This record gives sequence, C-alpha cells and structure tokens, in this order.
Amino acid sequence: MSTKKTYYITTPIYYPSDNLHIGHAYTTVAADCMARFKRMQGYDVFYLTGTDEHGQKIERAAQEKGLMPGPYVDGIVKNIRHLWEQLLITNNDFIRTTETRHKDVVQKIFQKVFDQGDIYISNYEGWYCTPCETFFTQRQLQDEKCPDCGREVELLQEESYFFNMSKYADRLLQHIEEHEDFIQPESRRNEVINFIKSGLEDLCVSRTTFNWGIQVPFNQKHIVYVWFDALINYITAVGYASDEEMFQNYWPADVHLIAKDILRFHTIIWPIILMAIDIPLPKKVFGHGWILLEGGKMSKSKGNVVDPLILKDKYGVDAVRYSLLKELSYGQDGIYSEEMMVNRINSDLANDLGNLISRSIAMIDRYFDGVLPEPGPHEDTDEDLKNTAREVFEGATEKLDKLDFTNYLQNCWRLISRANKYIDETEPWLLAKEEGRKKRLAAVLYNLAESIRIILLMTAPTMPTLAARANEQIEIFTDVERMNWMEAGMWGLTPAGIKTQKGPSLFPRIDPASLDIEYAGEDAPEVSKTQGDEAGRQTAEITFEEFARLDLRVAEVISCEKIKKTDKLLKVQVKIGEEERTLVAGIAVYYQPDDLVGKKVVLVANLKPTKLRGVLSQGMILAASDENGTMMEVLTLESEIPPGSRIK
Ligand code: ME8
Ligand code: MG
Repeated sequence: MSTKKTYYITTPIYYPSDNLHIGHAYTTVAADCMARFKRMQGYDVFYLTGTDEHGQKIERAAQEKGLMPGPYVDGIVKNIRHLWEQLLITNNDFIRTTETRHKDVVQKIFQKVFDQGDIYISNYEGWYCTPCETFFTQRQLQDEKCPDCGREVELLQEESYFFNMSKYADRLLQHIEEHEDFIQPESRRNEVINFIKSGLEDLCVSRTTFNWGIQVPFNQKHIVYVWFDALINYITAVGYASDEEMFQNYWPADVHLIAKDILRFHTIIWPIILMAIDIPLPKKVFGHGWILLEGGKMSKSKGNVVDPLILKDKYGVDAVRYSLLKELSYGQDGIYSEEMMVNRINSDLANDLGNLISRSIAMIDRYFDGVLPEPGPHEDTDEDLKNTAREVFEGATEKLDKLDFTNYLQNCWRLISRANKYIDETEPWLLAKEEGRKKRLAAVLYNLAESIRIILLMTAPTMPTLAARANEQIEIFTDVERMNWMEAGMWGLTPAGIKTQKGPSLFPRIDPASLDIEYAGEDAPEVSKTQGDEAGRQTAEITFEEFARLDLRVAEVISCEKIKKTDKLLKVQVKIGEEERTLVAGIAVYYQPDDLVGKKVVLVANLKPTKLRGVLSQGMILAASDENGTMMEVLTLESEIPPGSRIK
C-alpha cells in the first residue's frame, strides 16, 4: 500500500449516445485541474472518468444509426478518448460499463442486496423518461412531461425488481446532516434534504422490455436499471471485490464531481446502495452549475452543442481550459459563447498574463543580455509584491480545495495585476538609464521572474502546457513535469543566472472581427426595458465577483468621426495599452467629434462586440445622463494614468 496521502476524484461516466460537448469538457477539465493540483501537492491521485454504455437511451441511439449498440458505442468511445487526450486530461483509468470487470461487480452487488432482502419483485406501473433514464410517478410529472428535461415520457407496465430505499432514508438524512461537506455547494445540500424529507419511494431497479444491459444474475428476463449499474463504476474501478488493497487505498472517494442534473442519483441512490452493501460513503459530492448557451442548456439530445475539439484547434488547449474554468462561478450556471471566450483570451491571457511574461523577458534581454541577475537591494514596493504573492498562494490553495475554480483563478490574476503594476511603479526603463541604479534594476527584474515562477506554478493545473512553453523563453523550471505546489508559497527559488530567449507570443491576440458570428441588428439598440432601470430605481444587488467580471479600462480617444446618416452616433477610435479599438457611441447630440480627442475615457472592454450601422463596436464608453436625456457627460480621467489601466 502506498504511504502517500491519496486523493480519488471522479467525473460522471458520460453516455456515449453521441459525441460530447463543452458541458462534459467542463467537468472533465475541472476534475483534471484538481487531479493535477493534488499531484503537485504530493498526493497519490486516482482520477477516474469513463462511459455509461447500457440502457434504452443508448440502444435507441444505435438503432437510429442502424447499428448494434456495441459497435455504435465503440465508435463514440473512441472519439471521447481522443477528446480527453487532446484536452490533456490525466485520468488514471477509463471505465466502460460494458467491461467484464464492471458487469461482475454489478451482478455481485445485485445478488447481495437481493439475498439480504432489500430487493424484491413486484409490478411497475408508471412513467419513464428515456433521455434521463429516470422513473417518474404521475404526480411528479410536469404538464405530462419529464420534470427534469421537459421531454416526452413513456408509460411502462412491467414486472420489475424494487430496491427498498425507504428503509435507509433516516440513516441517509442523518449522514447528510452530520457531514456538512458531503453535498456541496451548500444550496444543493438543502435541496436534497428537502427531497428526502418529502418521502422516498422504493426504486425500480430492473427492466424487461429491452435487452441492452447487465442481466439480473438470478433472473435472465431482467436487466439491471442503468443507474444502479452506472453508479457502481466508482467502486469497480478502484478494485471493489477484486483488489482489496487498492480498494482500501482509494475508497472512499474524495470527490464525485458532477453537475446538478444528476445530483439526486449521487446523493440519494448511490449512498443508499453503499449503505446496503456496508461500504463507506464518498467524502463529497460536488454539483456544479450548467454551462448555458444563449438558447438554453446544451444537451446531446438537443443538438445545439459546441464542439470542444474545434475550440481547442482554434485557440489552443490552455486557452480553452482556462476560459471554461473561469466562466462558471462557484456552483452557478454560466452563459457561454465563443465571443466571451475570445474576450477572455484577449484580456486575461494576452493582455495581462502574456504581456507580463513577454515584457519581463524583453527587459532581462535588453538590460542583462538575457541572463537573470542576482536579486539586488530591496525597496518597500517589493514587500507589497511579495505579500501579494503569499496571500494569493494561500487564497488560491483554499479556493481550489473548495473546487471554486473561478476564485482560484481570480487569485492568480491578482498577482498578475500586481506584478504588472510593479513594472509601472518601478519604471525599469528609467533605472536602466542610470549606471548607479543597475543593482536596483537587477532586483526589480529578479522579482518579476520570481512572480512569473509563482504564477506559472499556480496556473499549471489549469493550463498544462504554459509552463513548458514559457520555459523555452525563460528557463525557470529544471523539470516542468515535476512542479511542486508548495514552492508557489515560497519566495526566492528562481536561480539567478538562468537564461532568457525571446520567443513567440504565449497567447496571441485574436481579432474579434475574425469570428464568424452574427452580430445584433444594424441599429443602435435601445436599452431593453427588462434590463435597464428607470432613473433612481434600485436594481438587484450583485456580488463583488459579478462586478469583477466587468473589464473597465482607461482608454485614450485618438480620433472620432460622425457616422453618416445618423444623428446620434459617433465612431470613436481609442487606445488601451498597445491596442487600438473602434467603438460606436450614441453621443453625437452632445459632443462634436473633436471634443473628445486626446481625452481619457472609461471603456467597458469586455462587452460583447456588436455591429452598428455597419461598424463593429468593440466596447462601450461610460457616460452619465439626466432623466430626460437633455444632458450627458462622458466620464473622463485627468491624471497621467496610462491608457489600458484597469478601473475597479
Ligand atoms: O448523466 N454544463 O451522463 P451525461 C455543465 N451517464 N456540465 C454539463 C453540461 C452542461 N451544459 N452538460 C453535461 C449522465 N454536463 C450519466 C452519468 S454517472 C454514474 C452517470 C456534464 O452524458 C455534467 O458533469 O448526460 C453532467 O452531470 C454530465 O455531463 C452528464 O453527462
Ligand atoms: Mg444528461
């Protein structure tokens, strides 16, 4: 048995009814981020994913393609494995429920639970949703449809085996109440508690009206209900009933990572199966939110999917993984679009992170011939940078341990911003002009390299190729395959004397206009009544995290012209940092084109681009106006603060 601390994490085993989309990629990337993080902390990690291959849903999907279920799923599973390889998923095993190792365990468990009297035969009469593989009573239906997915349900009348779940309800409730961490996030926990308190029905655990599944060992007419079969995968893969040593080592699982759609299966049916066979319950079930498209939830059966492979080929694996993890705030749903992803890449990766690294390397190149100098004399602003690094390390560790990916990344970006600000504060280009300040310049560049080392370590679980790519330009790590998380909490580990070698941009900027996307209508949109607030009326509160999603920047107006055939619109050219952008602003009634040139204004930089009168507007300028629209003033800044600076 290994002496290291173990960490066992799982994703759902996905239905190979069709190729997977970015929703599935989200869970798998998130679990991979945890697996990599825990390995970097020295844990013996077991990361499991796989496929849930039995049941009526799969049998029908195969039929529609004119194939037998076996060959049909083989094809899809091949694609799924390829997808995970492309996304650099480091799963330790890939379980398929059609494997013998799994069928044996399911039959053993079914037999055991039957033998002890917790499974009995009776008649089922009720409804079934095949896409969800779920039984419903008449009372549970909503408008005669599936209460979970809204699709048609079918009437079943067949002989079935039933699992006496109600017997275990009180024990389960007690467990949930005594183990705060068992169901996370908190809001999901209450939902489950209420559901159990409303009374558990015995669960139908076999079917007779189709064939694609595992046979009930003592009655060949019946096949095991697909969820009873599927959930057991989590113990099959770690050696239940086959490898006692392995099982003792990894079980109970540390986290089952799933989305909220399958929370009840994992927090009610699964724990009750485990109680019935006298096995400890998993430590945590974490139900994250849904990635929504503008038209609603994605699903394989709805067809409005987004192919993660296409995104990976376009933007690279690091950028795809980053934007997925950044998008879903803790436990919440999040709307996804390719434009949002491009904005993230441009602002967070190209501007903030990419620039920090490339500027630092360029300065080490220019001022020290590409050799990182020894750290020189200290100043106060160094302390602040170091303290930020320390706080961010602690914050990022804590947030990751809670599976709060968005805030873990937010912590990393706090250090990135702090380091960028440190460049502005220390003005290395001025230090370089004075021979006597060479040592101070050395200190500044050393501190930047050190910040970069810490940032690369902390972002490695999310962006697995970044450290190696950066290392080609600044050789911080002797072995990028063996990065140690704890070293992100220490200052001063970068060895002086390492070499830099300027190279290609780590995150090339993407021109949003290159996106093949339909923009909103041609005319300036009126603020919709449901979104806008009437003057003085209070709008709903937002959290700081929601506010922080706004990328507000200082922008300098470089030119401005009236858009022909309109009264209200100005076409404004602005500069933010190195970048120039075009915007359309509805301010022509209040401002002459020349009024704004040279002014520093406030730009909402991550607003979805939209085409107005044929001009692509990439952002919005903030302005105040009175109730009747007789007065309007564009917000401006007076100081020397450089364009591109963040406003928060
Ligand atoms: O439910 N947003 O498989 P499944 C976020 N076989 N996550 C999403 C998502 C979205 N729009 N769409 C899918 C099954 N997911 C069963 C599981 S486990 C013993 C059996 C992710 O293919 C999310 O993790 O329908 C969700 O729980 C899972 O895919 C459902 O995958
Ligand atoms: Mg599903």
